[in-house]
Amino acid sequence: MPGIVIVGTQWGDEGKGKIVDLLAERADAVVRFQGGNNAGHTIVRDGEEFKLHLIPSGILYRGVTCIIGNGVVVDPAVLISELDGLRRRGVDVTGVKLSANAHVIMPYHVMLDSAGEAKLGKLAIGTTKRGIGPCYADKAARLGIRVQDLLDPKILRKKILAALEPKKQMLRPFARDPRLDLHAIAEQYTAYGHRLEPHIADTARLCWEILDRDGLVLFEGAQAAMLDLDHGTYPFVSSSNPIAGAACVGAGVGPTDISEVWGVAKAYTTRVGAGPFPTELDDEVGKHLLTKGHEYGTTTGRERRTGWLDLVALRYAVRLNRLSALVITKLDVLAGLDPIRVAVRYRGGDGAVFDEFPYHQSILHAAEAEYDELPGFDGDIGACRDESELPQEARDYLAYIEDFVGVPIKLVGVGPGRDQIVARGEQPALLAA
Ligand code: GDP
Ligand code: IMO
Ligand code: MG
Repeated sequence: MPGIVIVGTQWGDEGKGKIVDLLAERADAVVRFQGGNNAGHTIVRDGEEFKLHLIPSGILYRGVTCIIGNGVVVDPAVLISELDGLRRRGVDVTGVKLSANAHVIMPYHVMLDSAGEAKLGKLAIGTTKRGIGPCYADKAARLGIRVQDLLDPKILRKKILAALEPKKQMLRPFARDPRLDLHAIAEQYTAYGHRLEPHIADTARLCWEILDRDGLVLFEGAQAAMLDLDHGTYPFVSSSNPIAGAACVGAGVGPTDISEVWGVAKAYTTRVGAGPFPTELDDEVGKHLLTKGHEYGTTTGRERRTGWLDLVALRYAVRLNRLSALVITKLDVLAGLDPIRVAVRYRGGDGAVFDEFPYHQSILHAAEAEYDELPGFDGDIGACRDESELPQEARDYLAYIEDFVGVPIKLVGVGPGRDQIVARGEQPALLAA
């Protein structure tokens, strides 16, 4: 059996959690390979909602190993509270494995994230202020604290001391803040290490063992292509690589371990935080998407910006990830809108036409989307389970997307519930009953 990567194709919150949960039924392991608790992945099972930030979305199945890979940045306090919260709800968390090589978010990372945003003022990125960027910066600067360091108080103290030194300038206003007290941090993080020790493992090796005996490993992306540090709308991006290629680095497997890449896209677009968004709507339709789609951030509760589906950006994400299948979620939210519009090209500030996603920031920032119009549909499609039950206009919409981006749509979300899904076309063996 293969390794399958599941990634977001827009600006996050496409419904990755729901899809990973669905596919995880047949998986041996689910691995998070990048990002941190900036992610918020929602699963709704029998009307009960689970919001996961660090723990992979396979956790609701007994026997699925849930791996937090080396590429993830881990806030131990958040992980511990997530583990405790799930345990209280009767979920077995013994299968959660945490890479010893994953980097740890420290109190100064969280402070630097906020201070950095404040300094940027009007140019702020709108980060989740969880310390993600500063933690990855320390990793690249080789000043990071790794999970394994939490198990050795002496090394931990030394490393914290070295990491704090270069931050003094930026954190000068907080010089007396107890959150920057070396002794207190070292003690607290040693305690976290004790709590997490039963979960700490050589997680790359765990993946190899499963893959080598033909088990199924799902690699769960957080964030999405347009928030990719290299390929997204820089600098309005996150600090990791959420595209499929990063699954190998962030989990410690090889490219030939991956046999499929599934991309998740909403039937429209949302974005949290600042940055270009060519199909953004600031009208009644935008409000419809916001309210009917409950578009409020899972992590920060912020209102998400909303807009029409952007096929120029989606086709770009399809190619970046070399998707083998596409999942369209939240089709139900479009019911009641007529016509439905989809962006098919951009018009630059000087009138030039762009059929492909432009790499140049000045072009992108001034780009306006141009649309095709498709007939809308009405009614509640939340009970549909087969494509034939969907209104013809909804089916035409899906066919249009598929045709434009050139990848088969295999699943369609018609509501938040685990069962609110329509399988489309030939299904891969892993989904067959
Ligand atoms: P993720 O970060 O990609 O996992 O997505 P989030 O969980 O942050 O946001 C997706 C939201 O949409 C969650 O509240 C889901 O419960 C919900 N959702 C997922 N699929 C569907 C769908 O097909 N229809 C509707 N109405 N809601 C959905
Ligand atoms: P999931 O996995 C949506 C956005 C933030 C901000 C930018 C940088 O739930 O799809 P960061 O804190 O990462 O430095 O913020 O990235 N962002 C997300 N937006 N979904 C997410 O995760 C996000 N994770 C980060 O809003 O614009
Ligand atoms: Mg989310």
